[in-house]
Amino acid sequence: MTSTTAARAESIDPARLLITGAHGQLGRALLNLVPGARALARADLDITDAAAVRAIVNPGDVLINCAAYTAVDRAETDAEAAFAVNATGPRVLAQVCADSGARLLHVSTDYVFPGTAAHPYETDDPTDPATVYGRSKLAGEQAVLELAPQATVVRTAWVYTGTGSDFVATMLRLERERDTLTVVNDQLGSPTYTRDLASGLLELAGLPDAPRILHATNAGQATWFDLARAVFAAIGADPQRVRPCGTEDFPRPAPRPAYSVLSGAAWQAAGLTPLRSWKLALQDALAAISD
Ligand SMILES: NC(=O)c1ccc[n+]([C@@H]2O[C@H](COP(=O)([O-])OP(=O)(O)OC[C@H]3O[C@@H](n4cnc5c(N)ncnc54)[C@H](OP(=O)(O)O)[C@@H]3O)[C@@H](O)[C@H]2O)c1
Repeated sequence: MTSTTAARAESIDPARLLITGAHGQLGRALLNLVPGARALARADLDITDAAAVRAIVNPGDVLINCAAYTAVDRAETDAEAAFAVNATGPRVLAQVCADSGARLLHVSTDYVFPGTAAHPYETDDPTDPATVYGRSKLAGEQAVLELAPQATVVRTAWVYTGTGSDFVATMLRLERERDTLTVVNDQLGSPTYTRDLASGLLELAGLPDAPRILHATNAGQATWFDLARAVFAAIGADPQRVRPCGTEDFPRPAPRPAYSVLSGAAWQAAGLTPLRSWKLALQDALAAISD
């Protein structure tokens, strides 16, 4: 843990911090930084169950909602389930937090935007999701903003830990399994290390009167191809083994945004520490895995 991260984590009273969806990748990163937080995995708390949520939220709590339906492609044919977790769930959390005098930090996504911009999306740019997942997350944002005056929606993008089946972990595996691979080079975003995002959320948890919507990603931009090459280079593999291709070479049920860069201007204007560059963050993520 860096000294900045440690300082941010120390400013939170763990007994006041509730993490829903605590077994997901962001939930686990938060719990690593604040081991004493009240961590609620799906088996402990279904965020769509209003009575159960009401039973665990106390006045003065800060609830960071990491629970979500994140299977972007599956959502195209499973809209009911996606909307239950991503729209009804946040609605329940927002209502209970508002009624209980708790504060809600709700995590959302770049997929609420159309993904066709040529400049980083600001927090007040028009939304227009192109996927079921994006529409379900937008409905969740709207419920939170409508029902919980003290809540903040934090949009992020391209989140990875480097373990499990996320993009960075997949590149590490394919580096071992294949001589060459092709990776999409016409989608731009900001790769974001879960630990940095978690640290930023904890800093936000200590900030009173935060704006209603913020963006939090590591700084800078890259294509998936850039990120794959950076992973190869960082572990001493030849980056030339990664070849560029286009989105059309990997058709998916849910269309992927061509442009997902989120502006950190509102985050910085609120006095929050900007997340460092994605390249630096990636070095730390890979070092943490090799440890
Ligand atoms: N990953 C990304 O690249 C990315 C990008 C932009 C935004 N985000 C947002 O960041 C947040 C965290 O994402 P993540 O990557 O940590 O997702 P994740 O790893 O898929 O974790 C989500 C967690 O939510 C749990 N969950 C699902 N339904 C639930 C319910 N009804 N009640 C309680 N928990 C439930 C899941 O449990 P099960 O596994 O048991 O279903 C899972 O542990 C989400 O809001 C996501 O939309 C992620």
